Amino acid sequence: MKKVIVKKSAAEKIRSFNPWIYKNEIKKVQQDVEKGELVEIYSPDGQFLGVGYINPLSKIMVRILSFFEKPEINTEFFKLRIKKALEKRSHLRSYTNAFRVVHSEADFLPGLIVDLYDRYLSIQINTAGMEKFRSEILEAIISVLKPEGIIDKSDEKSRQKEGLDTVHQVIYGNIPEKVLIEEQGVRFYVYLKKGQKTGFFLDQRKNRKLVSEYVQNGFKVLDLFSNAGGFGIYAGLKGADFIKFVDISENAVQQILENCELNKITSFQVVDENVFDFLKKEIKREGKYDLIIIDPPSFAKTKHEKEGGLRGFKYLILNSIKLLKERGMIAVFSCSHHIGMDDLKAVTMDAAKDTKTRVEIIEHLFQDKDHPYILNIPFSFYLKGFIFRKV
Ligand SMILES: C[S@@+](CC[C@H](N)C(=O)[O-])C[C@H]1O[C@@H](n2cnc3c(N)ncnc32)[C@H](O)[C@@H]1O
Repeated sequence: MKKVIVKKSAAEKIRSFNPWIYKNEIKKVQQDVEKGELVEIYSPDGQFLGVGYINPLSKIMVRILSFFEKPEINTEFFKLRIKKALEKRSHLRSYTNAFRVVHSEADFLPGLIVDLYDRYLSIQINTAGMEKFRSEILEAIISVLKPEGIIDKSDEKSRQKEGLDTVHQVIYGNIPEKVLIEEQGVRFYVYLKKGQKTGFFLDQRKNRKLVSEYVQNGFKVLDLFSNAGGFGIYAGLKGADFIKFVDISENAVQQILENCELNKITSFQVVDENVFDFLKKEIKREGKYDLIIIDPPSFAKTKHEKEGGLRGFKYLILNSIKLLKERGMIAVFSCSHHIGMDDLKAVTMDAAKDTKTRVEIIEHLFQDKDHPYILNIPFSFYLKGFIFRKV
């Protein structure tokens, strides 16, 4: 294996189990390296720090697979890691048949995502290093998880950055058109082939429940960026009188209709529109709601996009406040690492000031536990939000 020597500051980072080494943190790479090749990592004073894979095309040049040990990276290695990840999540099976089994770096498998939907798997292999081990990874996944089918929905943008082609295909067994999942007593149809990401926003599971706990009989609820209808359907089952879902995706709209029927939700409306346009019109129509959910896609994939993202959030929060009834509530989320809890609070404060509203934060919200937040991996904390009330 070729050797990579990192700068002193990077060595310190690695000693606290941070798995990413950026190009500018590397002091020296011995010999030419191929994209995805395994390398040994050393500190400037020659201390062995771990084994990872390298990609000279990527800004994150090395991702660490093993800290301070040199295991053989083979099918057995992947089996062991997947088994450990599964064990960690075994308690989830008591209330859902759909959860993330492998969450990349957070499960010591950088670049690999494995989501379970009943008896089927939707996976992503997002880096050149993991792509090199595709056959070992598949063998390990099949042996540990025994799925009936696997679909590979590797993330287009991440793969481009790694110099890889896009993949979107069934790679094992069969994948039905739709899969029925159940979480916490609520049922959803998930379309693994045409749905967004791996199929469903599993990371919001516990927040869907937490938010629904504030719903009272007779509530009017507005579910913005609703995707398959998750938050709104939970609210309907808790006694909401009427739910308005808004999403720009035609597929999502079809899924909302189907999922409402599945859960016997009858009083609702689905709006297939850009939320930014919808809000302006809804204010003119003088719509009023007891609860509004704002769960947009990532507005800031890089730190350069942060400012624009914050402007987007301010617009959404300010205009949603205008649609609130007295003592109405808003649940707002950011799934971008670059827009943190404090940023979200700062824009909420701004929006509250501009609308002369006093707000009270009543709940802080985070990604569900099958998407672990590892303290020493700051970017593993990506989904955050809170519920606030107009007081
Ligand atoms: C993070 S997902 C929402 C997940 C959902 N709340 C759940 O619990 O499953 C974001 C959704 O926003 C939708 N979307 C993205 N941009 C939009 C826009 N400008 N207007 C309306 N919907 C949009 C996407 O189609 C996607 O379904």
